[in-house]
Amino acid sequence: MTLKLTLFAPTSDGLAQLARQLPPAEESVGVSSALGCIDDLAAEIERGHPDLVVADLPRLADAELRRIEVALNDSPATSVIMLSPERSPEYLLQVMRSGVREVVPTPLANGELKVAYARQFERLIARRGSARKGRVLAFLPAKGGSGSTFLSTNLAYALASRGQRVALIDLNLHFGDAALFLSEARPATTIADLARDVSRLDPTFLESSMIEVAPNLRVLAAPDTPEGAMDVTPAAVERILAAARERFDFVLLDMSRLLDGAAVRALDQAEALYLTLQLTLPFIHDARRLLALLATLGYARDKLHVIVNRWEKGGEITSGDVQKALGTPVDLEVPNSFAAVAHAINHGVPILKSAPRDPVSKALLELADRLAPQEAGRKRGWFGLPL
Ligand SMILES: Nc1ncnc2c1ncn2[C@@H]1O[C@H](COP(=O)(O)OP(=O)(O)OP(=O)(O)O)[C@@H](O)[C@H]1O
Ligand SMILES: [Mg+2]
Repeated sequence: MTLKLTLFAPTSDGLAQLARQLPPAEESVGVSSALGCIDDLAAEIERGHPDLVVADLPRLADAELRRIEVALNDSPATSVIMLSPERSPEYLLQVMRSGVREVVPTPLANGELKVAYARQFERLIARRGSARKGRVLAFLPAKGGSGSTFLSTNLAYALASRGQRVALIDLNLHFGDAALFLSEARPATTIADLARDVSRLDPTFLESSMIEVAPNLRVLAAPDTPEGAMDVTPAAVERILAAARERFDFVLLDMSRLLDGAAVRALDQAEALYLTLQLTLPFIHDARRLLALLATLGYARDKLHVIVNRWEKGGEITSGDVQKALGTPVDLEVPNSFAAVAHAINHGVPILKSAPRDPVSKALLELADRLAPQEAGRKRGWFGLPL
């Protein structure tokens, strides 16, 4: 992921001078610039949440420093290097209290700015490296009713039952129903509420907006109105997933097969895309079209996984046929088990809880095992489930 650097000065001349004082930006740095007064700088921080700001500023009044402080409270991950002509200890203390990380005196001398920049840059890289990054897995139905929501929600539970911290995010923005599969609780907050207030978003706020299904499993519900779905912009999806990846080991996305801007932004963050289909021709036909679309969008073949759902022994079409038709091996066969699946869904209970020995539960655990292999010696998870 790129680091976002913002350069700021009151005038365009100042900005050009500032840029000349810094080393050429590396490829991993996205540079933007802004000019104007303190309000412009503050707005830029609040809007763009840059990782690093280098700002050449005159001596600031108390009210101006407070404005900076408000912006930095809103964007706590932003580091600011401030160039300042005023260097009295009282003033420097005030500046630091507003949240600015480093002050470099002007006029510049002895490469001080370069040193401060390198120091902050290294700190950010180190923080990025150590930041926890949850694994994003996206689930797409080849066709309506293929079982994508059932599988993603129940796999989320299977992973959580093995001690992983798991988030299930319902990105089927118009017709999402994932929360119903795992809980009877009505969601107080949906992804649309978060999207409307995305500047406040951090991992803690995100977690508190989700339904707690089990100790380490939470669900972010889909909007409950069409207007709500419209509020979930691609940028909001990106922020929500970034926050989720900081807090959870796995972030599972229950998607629709309509690949709009928000969906594509989410898929960009996914390490794997699971396409669910059943063993009849219309599913295979649509799976082929969806795979072609995903290829056109640039998703590598090795990211794409195929799950055959409602598999039955002796069926007319086999997983081998699917592999031939799609040119992609079948990753997992989930057996057909109508009564146990319908019972679990109707009661808003994970199938691993209501029917732990059902073949469907076993298939889900098999996939969970591949994604998060169990350490030897740990045999039982919640509810004494065989692990
Ligand atoms: N392995 C299974 N065995 C039997 N029935 C199943 C199985 N998996 C799913 N189903 C049934 O299929 C129905 C549709 O599943 P689900 O809602 O998960 O599909 P979907 O692909 O998410 O559909 P949509 O495109 O509408 O979001 C479920 O209500 C359930 O009854
Ligand atoms: Mg669904």
